[in-house]
Order: sequence, then structure tokens, then C-alpha cells
Amino acid sequence: MDRFPFAVGTPFLDALSPAQRSVYGDAPFETTTVEFDALEPTTYDLLWWHQEESLVITDALYTHRERLLPYLRAGGGLLLTGRALSAVAALGVDPVPPDVTGVEEEPTGPLPKARYTDHPLFSGFDERAFTAEHAPFARYEGILPERGELLAATARGSGDAYGQLPMAVWRVGRGAVLGIGSFVSAGEAFGERRDRLLSNAVDCLARPEELPERPRDVPALGELRATLAGDHHRPSHHLTAPANWLNDPNGLVRWNGRYHVFYQYNPAGPHHGTIHWGHVSSSDLVRWRDEPVALTPSPNGPDRDGCWSGCAVDDDGTPTLVYTGGRDRRQLPCLATSDDPDLRTWETYEANPVIELPPDEPALRSTEHWETEFRDHALWREGDTWHHLIGSGTDEGTGVVLYYTGTDLANWRYEGPVLAGEPGEGHMWECPELLGFADRDLLHVSNYEEVRYFVGSFDAARGRFERESTGLLDHGDFYAPQSLADGDRYLTWGWLPEARGAREQWDAGWSGCLSLPRELSVEGDELRQRPAAELEALRGERHEFDIALEPGTETELPVRGRSLELAAEIHLDGADSVELACLTAASGGERTTIRYTDDELLIDRSAAGGPGTVEEPVTAPADDLSDPLTLRAFVDGSVVELFANERRCLTGRVYPESEGSDRLSLSATGGAASVSMELWPLESIW
Ligand code: FRU
Repeated sequence: MDRFPFAVGTPFLDALSPAQRSVYGDAPFETTTVEFDALEPTTYDLLWWHQEESLVITDALYTHRERLLPYLRAGGGLLLTGRALSAVAALGVDPVPPDVTGVEEEPTGPLPKARYTDHPLFSGFDERAFTAEHAPFARYEGILPERGELLAATARGSGDAYGQLPMAVWRVGRGAVLGIGSFVSAGEAFGERRDRLLSNAVDCLARPEELPERPRDVPALGELRATLAGDHHRPSHHLTAPANWLNDPNGLVRWNGRYHVFYQYNPAGPHHGTIHWGHVSSSDLVRWRDEPVALTPSPNGPDRDGCWSGCAVDDDGTPTLVYTGGRDRRQLPCLATSDDPDLRTWETYEANPVIELPPDEPALRSTEHWETEFRDHALWREGDTWHHLIGSGTDEGTGVVLYYTGTDLANWRYEGPVLAGEPGEGHMWECPELLGFADRDLLHVSNYEEVRYFVGSFDAARGRFERESTGLLDHGDFYAPQSLADGDRYLTWGWLPEARGAREQWDAGWSGCLSLPRELSVEGDELRQRPAAELEALRGERHEFDIALEPGTETELPVRGRSLELAAEIHLDGADSVELACLTAASGGERTTIRYTDDELLIDRSAAGGPGTVEEPVTAPADDLSDPLTLRAFVDGSVVELFANERRCLTGRVYPESEGSDRLSLSATGGAASVSMELWPLESIW
């Protein structure tokens, strides 16, 4: 604390409350209490306002703003604790104030985001630690500050609350505002740690230029991405967000010669909530760059609670996003357009939503959170007609895809359900998409558990899809895919969700990645899937092996790595199974085993990773796959993505504890087998 003594002014409104008297009085540094009306900010090195009672926003606050803002811009500091954080809007610091206030019932303390655990603000807090009980709070939960950077969520006696974020920082000119909208209360229970937090806060506010800012532009997003470069679970040839949370791929489009992939993104942390649209782009499908966040929930708009999944279309030269806004208990179809050739800036349509209410027929499913489940969009145009699919479920417990048509994107006519599921095929169908192939169509839906596709034919005149056969697009950790029509091929990306606990994700600071772009085709009535040919450009030095396997012996390959492509032809010959182990430790330690038998292809995760990770295998049927099996395998940090005979995909997320688990080996059981294999280390896509 070399900067003490500071002059810390502790203002109050109207009258000093007993709570303020004791919190200010208990402070680990000298304070001078002063009524707001009499406050001359420049008399102090910094100001600290603590408020326990709910804050009534008065006109007076707006007048205080006129003295505070110039003080901050000139380098002053303001610490807001407890419910005083609610004043950020009235003080002109951020147009979006916290959305939830109250009093904590249990002991609580800050849960710093992964990239801030080493920040001086948290020095002395090595582990989750409580700083207060019965703390009054104001925090961000369902919305985010527009200008501020969130620093921490809430550790609580009964468990961490990742989506409850009471700590934020704002740089205002040369000064800063630090909000600790919780974790501070009078009393001795956690007094020492509370004092530590307050001293750290004051110390940090003395050097406002070192306080973090929300990463927004391309260089700042690159720096954010770089903070995770040392994490050996981070994929390097699968698309990820710079940090924080990613789920579905959205708005896939090729525009002005570049590929654009948007994705469901939570900038607040590695948990689902406050969903924005993140954005990456590429000229060649091989190297990608981060782009600024494309869609942000509008505090007063129909997408206030999130910009959920949707697609991109070319509306006579205007790139347009069609997505689901969330507001209160309603899911509302919305539009946004761009006039930027690089698709970096988007304007939401002023007359959003473009569909006010879901249809009456069939009766649709509602949940605790949503009046009606009515979301996710797939559009295409034929002649002058737009065709539009939206996902839902019926109140009878089956999935359904709803069908609309229109001659413009703002006016829609409901045509009825295009396909209704059977019992057992899921009670909610998210992210529907229809792909047209030469003589068949393919409709797929995500039903919370799996991505089910139906091969059949779409009859636009009747507005119905006739299903002929069904299957799964991937049998493992793969969800909510979306496709890009690219010339005469479709490229499909899916979300590869994590297979580890929420706490592990929080500690990692990131969650979710996308699959490789897969080329989909339908041959006869059979689905084919191949990794996009462009990915070959990532290959490094080629290795080749022909290996005869005897049962009971394991052959270690002379190549190691955590970012690899393997192309193998596996002949079971007399064997029951062939095992390819990857992400394997030197001896007897952890390993991820890809096992192929007559009837099954499996990723065995029972010894793959540490605590908090899923140990159950992912499996795909293999009885109809011919022997030999042609296997393309992509190993990437925590991803194993398999393409079997260009027909079946199986993806598993795994988390080897040791960075040194990068070995590969082959073995067979029950008899001799042979494998010929090509293998390449893969370069990074960034
Ligand atoms: C699928 C999904 C979509 C929704 C989005 C929200 O994973 O639940 O139905 O639009 O994610 O992030």
C-alpha cells in the first residue's frame, strides 16, 4: 500500500445511514465523510460511495454527475460498493445500470474471471474466498453494461453463480470507476478479506490507466485470444471465440469473397447468458481472424435478453441477419442489416420483431422461461418468395418445424408445420435447416440431445416435408449445426459443447468451439460428410505408416502432437478391435482411445482426463460401415473429430490433464489387424 495515505472522500445522499457509518468507519484507510451536495471532488484522491439501502435515483444525482464526470475525466477515481453501483446510469458512467439488486443471504465473495485472477485487484485471493455476509448487492445478470468490463462473478456459500456479475470497471477519460456491487458489508465475520478487497480497490483506482477495458476492436480481441494461448486444451484448428462462451454457429455467409461465421457469444464469461453474436471471417476457410461483436442485445429492444440463433441472407444486395430476440417470456423474430462490406457493423431493424406472435396451430410448447418456444431461423429464396423455417415443439411433447413464406423479410405468412416429429424424436426442435440436394432434400433439427436429420423431399406447394430416412449428423458432442451454401456444396459447422463441469469452464475462461467445416452431400438417399478440402492447406510434414498389429502389443507412433490429422485405413482382419490411442501420456497414464470393432466406433474417455470431465464414451454404430474402415481423425487439444467412411461423424471432447499427453499408439485385440496411415501435424488457423 505504498500510495497511502490517500484522501478518500466518502459521500452520502441526504443523511449518513448507520450502515454507511459502520462500513466507512471500518475501512482499512482514512476516510472523510461528506454530503454529496457539499462534495468538492477535487479535494480527494478518490471517492468511495457505499450504499446498502435500495438507491432511489433522484434528480440530484444528475446534478452530481456534472461535478463527478469532469473530475473522473481529469484522472479521478470513484469506487461504488453495494447498491451504489445502481447509480452508474444516473452518473453518466454507463447507460445500462445493473438489473438485479437485493441482499445476499449467504457468505459471498468475488469469483474473478480467469484472465483477472492475477490482477492486483484480487491480490491475496488465491482461491474462492468470501469477503462478506448479508452483503447488499447490485449486479448484472440478464444484461451487460454497455461500456464497462465485468471482472468477477459471485462465489457463494451454496455454490458459485457464474451469471451473477457485480464487479465492473469503467475507464472515464483519464480516471476510472470501479464497481464492487456486492461483497462489502459491515461486521467482522470476513472483515480481514473485505479490508483486503477494499485496499486493493483503492490501490488499483490510483492507477486508472492500468485497469482493464472491455476488448472490442480487432487488436484487443487478438490480445484476449492470446491470453489463452498457453492452455493445452484450446483447439488451434477448430474455431473458438477469443475467450468466454460460444454456442451455435450463426449467420454463415460468403460475402465479398470472404467467409463469415457468426456465433452465439457471451462476452460476460464462459457460461450461457446475455447472448451476443460473435464474428470471425476468412478469405479461404483456412486462416481466420476475429471480428468485432456483430449483434448486442438492445437494452430497450425486443432482443434485450439475448440475440439468439439465426441465419444470414442476401436481400437484393443487403446482408441481413434473421435471428431470435428474447424479451421477458417471449421469443421474437428480428432483423439486422449491414452496409459494411466487411460485415463489421449491424443495425437492428426499427420495426423489430417481424413476427409478433407464434401461430395458434398446432398448440405449441411453453416452459418455465418461455411463453412459447419459437426460435431459430433458416431462410432461402426462390423467385420472389422467401421461405422461412422456425423451430418449436408441440404441447403434446413432439418437435415441430414451422413454415412461413413472404415476399419481403418483414412480413410473413404462416403456412403450417413443415414437419412434425414422432414421439422419441425430442420434444423441442431447435435450429431447423433444410438443404436441397440434386434429387433429395435434407432437413435437420437439434432436439437437446442430438442432431437428427431426415432425408426426403420438400414440397413447397403443400408446404410439407416427406421423410424417407433418418439418422444423426454426428453421434457425439455436436449440436445446433448450420450450413453455408457455397457454390455447389454445403459447408456445415456445428457447436462442439464442453464435456466438463461449469466450474472447469469458468476456471478455463472459455467454453465451446465449432466443428470443422464439413461438406455435406446426399448420394442416393445416403448422407455423406467430408472435411472441407481446403483444410489440407493446414497440413505440415507428412508421415506415413503401414503397421501390422499383433494382439497384445502396442505400437507407439514416432510422431507426437496435440493438433493432428490422421487418415487411416483399418483392416480388422482377424481382430475384434483396433485401438488408436491419442493424447496419451508416456506410460500407463491418461489416454483417449478411438476403438473400432465390427459393430461400433467409439471414443473411450474413461482414462482421458482429470476430475470434472465426462468419462462416458461417445459411440457410433459401425455394423454397416465396410471393412476396411477409412477413418479421418482430427485431434485438437480437447477435440477428437472423426469421419468414418465419409459417412458417419463422431466427435468427443476430452481434457488430458498433462500437457505432455501428446503421444499416439496403435493396438489390436483378439487377433491380428493391419493399418495404413498418413499423418500430419496441423497448423493453427489463426
Ligand atoms: C441451440 C440454442 C438455440 C438458441 C440458442 C441460444 O443451442 O438453444 O435454440 O437460439 O441456442 O443460445
